[in-house]
Amino acid sequence: MSEHHHDEGVVPHRHPLRPDQDDTLTYWRAMEIAVRELLIEKQITTADEVRAEVETMDSRSPSDGARVVALDQSRGQLLHARALLDTTEVDAPLVCASAESVPLATGSFDLVMCDHGAMSFCDPDRSVAEAARVLRAGGRLVFSHTTPWPYLAWNFEKERVGRRLRRSYFGIRRFDDGAGQGTVDFQLPYGEWIRCFRRHGLAVDDLVELQAPEHATTTYDDFDPRWARRWPAEQIWVTRKEW
Ligand SMILES: C[S@@+](CC[C@H](N)C(=O)[O-])C[C@H]1O[C@@H](n2cnc3c(N)ncnc32)[C@H](O)[C@@H]1O
Repeated sequence: MSEHHHDEGVVPHRHPLRPDQDDTLTYWRAMEIAVRELLIEKQITTADEVRAEVETMDSRSPSDGARVVALDQSRGQLLHARALLDTTEVDAPLVCASAESVPLATGSFDLVMCDHGAMSFCDPDRSVAEAARVLRAGGRLVFSHTTPWPYLAWNFEKERVGRRLRRSYFGIRRFDDGAGQGTVDFQLPYGEWIRCFRRHGLAVDDLVELQAPEHATTTYDDFDPRWARRWPAEQIWVTRKEW
């Protein structure tokens, strides 16, 4: 994205709404800014709406007293999380459990957020049910996820994503490409996701399909930035609990 497309004051290398914080961006903050820029560029939202949202987020941030709980089923990952948390002022209970069976109270969260985490590796009917259960009415489930397209275009011989669809879209759900040796991933057709959300009381506010920036690079060998410039490789679902 070239800079002249951006709304004035919204530049990629620094958060314009928090001028006091111009330290190195984490991956997640850079992604957040890129998504917001994209929404402004596509005129889905305005800079003022983004500013208002950031202010609301700030007022709910852990440094302003919001309570955060982190969940993972891997003790190893939680040990990393503990070490990183210890370098901050923030304290967050770490819960070792599967997102398919969450040991936390019903209706007790404003936001459930997942970054390429359990929502990719759990059966959606179980993980969406649990996320919806712990949310209060009006709360949000937001998660990033690989799209189905790299799975459908995967070239097993070259072990790369290709330019041809090689698998059927209809009927996708559980991908066990490691034949029991690797991770199991879940993907649903888009209509199935929407029906799954609705079964559990969630309405879709947005689906952000991410386009790789020009000249992007990646350290991941199963993603190709040139491919992801033409087709969406990653997406972010934004859903809201209606009841
Ligand atoms: C690709 S990592 C991403 C994690 C995090 N976003 C990060 O950047 O470090 C996926 C995470 O999902 C966790 N995970 C997988 N299945 C899970 C489940 N059923 N319940 C909870 N966490 C799970 C894994 O242990 C792993 O930490």
